[in-house]
Parts: sequence; structure tokens; C-alpha cells
Amino acid sequence: MKNKQKNMENPFIFGSATSGKWFTDRTEDAKRLLNNFMHGINTIIISPRRWGKTSLVLKVSDQANKSDLHLKIVNMDIFPCRSEEDFYQLFATEVIKQTATKWEEWTENVSRFLSGLVPKISLGANPATDFTLSFDFSNKHLNEEILDLPKKIAQKKGIRIVVCIDEFQQIEEFTDAKNFQKTLRSAWQLQTQDVTYCLYGSKKHLLSALFSKQSMPFYKFGDVLFLQKIPLNDWIPYIQERFEKTDKFISSELASMICQAVDNHSSYVQQLAWLLWVRTEQRATESDFNDALQDLLNQNSALYYNFTEELTLIQMNFLRAIVDGVHHQFSRKDILLKYNLGTSANVSRVRKSLEQKELIDISPKMITFNDPVFRLWFKKTIFIRQK
Ligand SMILES: Nc1ncnc2c1ncn2[C@@H]1O[C@H](COP(=O)(O)OP(=O)(O)OP(=O)(O)O)[C@@H](O)[C@H]1O
Ligand SMILES: [Mg+2]
Repeated sequence: MKNKQKNMENPFIFGSATSGKWFTDRTEDAKRLLNNFMHGINTIIISPRRWGKTSLVLKVSDQANKSDLHLKIVNMDIFPCRSEEDFYQLFATEVIKQTATKWEEWTENVSRFLSGLVPKISLGANPATDFTLSFDFSNKHLNEEILDLPKKIAQKKGIRIVVCIDEFQQIEEFTDAKNFQKTLRSAWQLQTQDVTYCLYGSKKHLLSALFSKQSMPFYKFGDVLFLQKIPLNDWIPYIQERFEKTDKFISSELASMICQAVDNHSSYVQQLAWLLWVRTEQRATESDFNDALQDLLNQNSALYYNFTEELTLIQMNFLRAIVDGVHHQFSRKDILLKYNLGTSANVSRVRKSLEQKELIDISPKMITFNDPVFRLWFKKTIFIRQK
């Protein structure tokens, strides 16, 4: 019976942030992030989609919260926020909720640190952890108090607080976004003794613009961690171990083929490994692998058709060039001609729009597809057809 239960365990995880035994490698990144947390250095994490930013932050947060380092990590995801008001509300709620150990403490913190106004508190099923706060936002003073909350709580408790904000690029959507960024930056830079920030999100080009442009308020705000892919050497033993734990077997060659097919992309490695695992009775075979890869393409096919339907001919041509192995110098005469890209002015427009659609990743050295499975699909379905 025990054995059966063990077999039922899900060996691979994708689609949401991962942790525990599903988390592999990233030892150097985790060390660097924990060090920044401990020594009060703000961190910005940047990577293309689904490489593992959220998983890394949650893992290190968990590690720090369990340690004796006098650190408290507060994690929040501001994806649902559409305005400054939403932000303040979520920020206050999460800081209060995650720094208190019992509900008496959070009510005390609310009345002690958010003076003047009595916020509306709505309780959920479990009042100790499940509540939201709402405020009257006509009071500007209250906003300042909310931004100061982590500092006040840190000082009261004699600890350092680290506030990690996921999907931080969301603040670009607020009205008067730049002014709001200025407000945040000036408040946060006065808190360095007690509070550290870790900012990250899923839209690489927006985040990069927030932190790397001199004209932006968050320019040089902290240590920028450009997360890399998990290397093949770590993926292979991970995949083999996950198979073995469930009494199945995969050779290192096949494990390596999984990674190579999806270009070591974290989420897709897990998804393709899962599709192969499901098909495997005991020992994974190459034909199972081919079927699993086809499954992966089929599952995404409708989505990819939608992507391409929205593209202009010249955008499609640009993608064709990438699939064909062109990764830079798109404005070279022969490339413009070969792929029908028009003028070099066209090329820079196309680059920008494909980046905004998050279909391509532009790094200083090269332009690549953001999604390796879309690349594969494009190559099989569109590229071949056009040739
Ligand atoms: N360290 C890791 N070990 C194993 N798998 C991982 C690891 N990090 C990420 N993954 C895989 O990648 C998937 C995406 O991870 P995560 O959500 O953390 O990425 P992200 O960069 O935050 O994504 P997004 O850009 O969408 O916010 C996870 O569900 C998991 O399958
Ligand atoms: Mg994420």
C-alpha cells in the first residue's frame, strides 16, 4: 500500500511556482539572493517567462523565514492591481498579515501604525490569516504611512523585513506611473536600515525598461540578477531521479533529449518530462519521447495559431529568419532581401512589436524566440509550408 501511494506522487510540476523536491539547482542564485536579503541589498530579478523567478524567490523566502537570521520575508503578487489604490491596499494587507503571528498582533499593528483612520477590515474563514483591509484613499498621509509600515514593524520587532513584489511591471499601468515610481523610490531609499526590497515580474522588456533606463526613478535601485537557464547537467539527474522515485526508468540520453527539445526552458522541461512519464510503463523509449513531444505541440497548437493569425507578413518573415538561424544584424542588406523585410526602419518596428507581444527575446547578443515550443511549432507548421 505504501508503495502504491509513493507511485501516485506527481513526479513533475509545471504551471505554477515550484518548490521542495521539484526544485532543482539554482544554488548560486539562491545564495546570492539570501545574502542580499541578509545584508540589506535590494534585488531585481529579470528573466524571460517561466524560467523560475517566482520559484526561486519563494524558495529563498521560505529558507530565510525558517532561519534564525532575524529576517521576515513578505511576499506579494501585484498582478491584480490596476491602480495605486489597489497597490496600497494589497501592500498594507500583506505586510500586516505576514508579519504578525496572531490576529491580536495585526489588529494592534493596524491601529498603532495606520493612525488617524480606522480601516475597514473584512474577515474571511480564518481570521488569523484571511482578511483584507480597505481604506479611504483621499487621505494622502495614509499612503505615506502604508509605505512606512514595514519599517515601523521591523523596528518594533527588532528584525529586518524583506518585501518581495512579483509582477512589479504592473505599476507601469497605473495612471501617472512615473510619479508613483518616484514616490515609491523616495520612500524606500529612506528605509535601507530596516527594509529591503526584491522586485521581479514576468514581462522582461517592461521590467528591464523600469530598471535600466537612466531616466527612470528605479534606475540603479539594486543588484540586478539576470536569471539564467538551469543547465543540462542539473536537469538530467533531476529527471532520472524523478522517474526512479516512481519506479520508472529513463536513460540519460533520453533525459537529455527532453531538455534539448525545449532548449532547457524550465517549465517545458517539466511538462515534456511529465508527458513522457505518463506514457512510460517502466522504461521510457524513444518512440514514447516522440509521441510526448507531439503531444506538447498539439496541446499548444491552438494558441500558436492565434499568435500567428495576429501577425503581419513582415512579422512572420522576421520569425522565419530567426528559425532559419539569423539572430542579429537583421538590417544587413542580404538579410533584408532574403527574408523580405523591407527597410531597416521596418526591421526596428517589427522587433519592437514582436517584443511587445512577448514572442521574441532581445538580448544584447541575439534575438531569439521567447517560447522554444512555439519556435518548434513555427518551424514545423509555418516555416516549412512557406519554403
Ligand atoms: N528550480 C527549478 N527546478 C525545477 N523546475 C523549475 C525550477 N524553477 C522553475 N521550474 C519550472 O518552471 C515553471 C515556472 O516557474 P516559475 O513560475 O517560478 O517561473 P517564472 O519565471 O516566475 O514565470 P513567469 O515569468 O510566468 O512569472 C515551474 O512551474 C516549474 O515547472
Ligand atoms: Mg513568476
